[in-house]
Amino acid sequence: NVLSALLTFFFFFFFFFLVDRFLYAMRLHDDQLRDISARFQAEMKKGLSAESNAAATLKMLPTHVCSTPDGSENGEFLAVDLGGSKFKVLQVKVRKEAGRVRRSVEMQEQTYPLPKELLIGRGVELFDHVSECLKDFLLQKKISLEKKHPLGFTFSFPCQQTALNQGLLLNWSKNYWARGLQGKDMVNTLRQAISRAGGMDVDVLALVNDTVGTMMTCGFDDQHCEVGLIIGTGTNACYMEELRHIDLVEGDEGRMCVNTEWGAFGDDGALDDYLTEFDRDIDAASINPGKQCLEKMVSGLYLGELVRLVVLKMTKLGLLFDGRVTDALRTKGKITTAHVAAMEQYKDGLKNTRDILLDLSLNPSPDDCIAVQHVCTVVSFRSSNLVAAGLAAILTRIRQNRKLKTLRITVGVDGTVYKTHPQYAKRLHKVVRRLVPDCHVRFVLSESGSSKGAAMVTAVAQRVTARRHQVKWLCVCILSRDQLRSVKARMRAGLEAGLKSNSHSPVKMLPSYVFRTPDGTECGKYLALDLGGTNFRVLLVKIRSGLRRSVRLYNKLYPIPLEIMQGTGEELFDHIVHCISDFLDYVGMKKARLPLGFTFSFPCLQAAINVVSTGLNWTKGFKATDCEGNDVVDMLREAIKRRNEFDVDIVAIVNDTVGTMMSCAYEDPQCEIGLIAGTGSNVCYMEELRNIEKNGLGEMQRMCINTEWGGLGEDGCLDDIITEYDNAVDRESINHGRQRFEKLTSGLYLGEVVRQVLLDLTRRGLLFKGRVTEALKTPGIFETKYLSQIESDRLALLQVRSILQHLGLDSTCDDSIIVKEVCGAVSRRAAQLCGAGMAAVVDKIRENRGLDQLNITVGVDGTLYKLHPHFSTVLQETVVALAPQCYVTYLLSEEGSGRGAALITAVARRDQVEM
Ligand code: BG6
Ligand code: BG6
Ligand code: GLC
Ligand code: GLC
Repeated sequence: NVLSALLTFFFFFFFFFLVDRFLYAMRLHDDQLRDISARFQAEMKKGLSAESNAAATLKMLPTHVCSTPDGSENGEFLAVDLGGSKFKVLQVKVRKEAGRVRRSVEMQEQTYPLPKELLIGRGVELFDHVSECLKDFLLQKKISLEKKHPLGFTFSFPCQQTALNQGLLLNWSKNYWARGLQGKDMVNTLRQAISRAGGMDVDVLALVNDTVGTMMTCGFDDQHCEVGLIIGTGTNACYMEELRHIDLVEGDEGRMCVNTEWGAFGDDGALDDYLTEFDRDIDAASINPGKQCLEKMVSGLYLGELVRLVVLKMTKLGLLFDGRVTDALRTKGKITTAHVAAMEQYKDGLKNTRDILLDLSLNPSPDDCIAVQHVCTVVSFRSSNLVAAGLAAILTRIRQNRKLKTLRITVGVDGTVYKTHPQYAKRLHKVVRRLVPDCHVRFVLSESGSSKGAAMVTAVAQRVTARRHQVKWLCVCILSRDQLRSVKARMRAGLEAGLKSNSHSPVKMLPSYVFRTPDGTECGKYLALDLGGTNFRVLLVKIRSGLRRSVRLYNKLYPIPLEIMQGTGEELFDHIVHCISDFLDYVGMKKARLPLGFTFSFPCLQAAINVVSTGLNWTKGFKATDCEGNDVVDMLREAIKRRNEFDVDIVAIVNDTVGTMMSCAYEDPQCEIGLIAGTGSNVCYMEELRNIEKNGLGEMQRMCINTEWGGLGEDGCLDDIITEYDNAVDRESINHGRQRFEKLTSGLYLGEVVRQVLLDLTRRGLLFKGRVTEALKTPGIFETKYLSQIESDRLALLQVRSILQHLGLDSTCDDSIIVKEVCGAVSRRAAQLCGAGMAAVVDKIRENRGLDQLNITVGVDGTLYKLHPHFSTVLQETVVALAPQCYVTYLLSEEGSGRGAALITAVARRDQVEM
């Protein structure tokens, strides 16, 4: 007996030695796992960086899920769960019951068959099937077909997302290969299929990877759950990454869940030294050769097949079943992962193994059964070891991100391998704890699948959408084409009325005494002042005529403090003269008596090119006293006299629109319109003298008219499009009741309109948690440059959030979406209104000249036009739509209107000399 026992012992020893040697490459010890984990960490870094992402195997996809469930989720949701071993449709009801701290979740679900042909057929048919099942589900469960249902779509494949409700399919994985969907938006694809199926009202609000759904499902009960793991048909993990590390999403505050798509780890050869011949065979026979290297070593779709290939090889070598291979053993798919789990059962394992082998027409001896069971163990152990290495990399990264010595964290897990394999979970937990002893990891099994989590994500998406609807409703500022046509007509009427001699039109139509655009004969050295835009500038302009015609500029910016803008006239002009004096020192020309052109960007009625007849009206942010009613040219002359340091010859006073037109006309003779869309808003254009009743000048053909269109609406003619927010801005302005068109269209006011809308939304509890902060109460915080930044398409929401934070507005992701939309609505309206005004101007010029078609250039300046990402496009599109007979080119004034003022001065000077 002792001898037989010894013999048996030696036999087993020898046997295991044999089998183990055979499977040696699949046994991974801790050093190797640490090595794999380190490679994994490096690859995660590579995937997160914008520069190396394209070459990285770990795609590290931003999911736009910014937080785990926070308890505010509520409502009834539909869910579709596609991509795991079961295709399911569900309804998830999340409720907060009165008097209870915890919310309750009720779910009903139905699994639908998914024929294999559909997985590899036409994508459209796959999605048609999905939506037919959805419809069937609604009917079966007697869920209303009329009601609108929000839906969360768990789609367990790699998608590139720029928002929760958008995701381009990067590639298929597992056993899917449906044609025509790669690169397409899966949300849209599902929406279209649902609308093809018809008869239901379903709104697909969120696209969620199964890892993310799992993390959120487990996060519902455990706030520390910040990792989601799937070991099922496929394998993958997601985790909460610091935003500052996610290059593909700008912004640096907070976290976002990243879908690692770790199944692709090793696709670049990083695991080659750990691959066995069986892995290579599996890959070669798969639907996606060369792809999903790690997944093929780990996940349920492949484990059974790996075991079969090993057993087949051993049999062929005579190590099993006396070397007798059966057809069944040769057939792909005959051993499944479920078989592997059954063979490894603690008690019945050997019996199960025998039954399974018998089913394959094999005739196993007890030793064969033990050996095959051992193969299963080695294969499944390698799987859990590799998952442990990946997870260790993620956990280490999170711990380092947070600069923690020890990390407490929960990992939410799902997938048939993890759930049904008898030892898998235990082994995994043990190895992870060994690899990362500084992380206290809790593993939570997702009992209810990923859809509960998908519902949480959908709830957030729904809240955002709902708020957006309310905001849309509040923003009455969306103008229809008819309204814009009517604005064009009102502007036209305003222009006509302003040209009449004794008019009181709010559109003043001021003569500029500029009768022609430059012709290249202008020359000389001039001094120019540019007052009224964002900056005050003093310039020296040198103009050369003839063949080598050119304009050279030297200029210096001088800030004008608010107290001077709104102080006394004398102080303002003394300050201006002080700046001129400094500038003349700077260019070393204090002695010369230079001719001066004064760009003065305010309305003033002139009697000649350098004579202001009835004084000015301040607009924009200026309100210096004792100026209105006086001749600013005189005021400047007197201030120069008071200083008594230098002398100049004030030859021309020019509005900035006129300066801009002249400056651009020097480049393009077709330029006969000047437009400013900056701090203020205004247009000038070349009008026929016969139409200008108030000129009294006979023989010239045309004169440039400064329309001062910003005044339109002072008589109430825009009241129907003016909103309560615009009225609030007007009331708080320094020129209440005036410049109503300007207050709808220019940089000084747009930010204020936005602020008024945001104030209202906050008071209604729709923004900033309902808290009206000091920052929000501060007039002028939204300067044009911030509006432009916020609306830039290239910015992700999180960057919007950081701009808002910089302005002192603490916002959530949802808040940022709304702020961006409000900005968009307000600036779009402004651009459309300017476009409507411009359409009136170009059509008037066309009719003046009796043309069917007008080709004309507009010289443009102003920070709004130049900095805002969409303003110019929307303005131009509106002109095309409202003045289809005019072909308008827009030429940006690169160097400001000072150059134009100098050109006008040159012409005026010559005329003076000639007279
Ligand atoms: C399910 C989830 O529980 O697990 C799915 O609801 C997920 O979203 C699946 O894809 C993963 O496991 P398996 O084994 O079904 O692929
Ligand atoms: C500048 C011109 O470039 O643009 C000024 O030189 C003009 O004359 C100004 O007033 C308008 O833009 P903003 O945005 O500065 O008001
Ligand atoms: C595959 C998919 C991935 C998914 C995983 C688990 O790896 O590419 O998106 O999460 O399977 O289902
Ligand atoms: C204001 C001024 C106008 C100027 C415009 C642009 O509307 O009244 O004269 O052209 O701003 O700066």
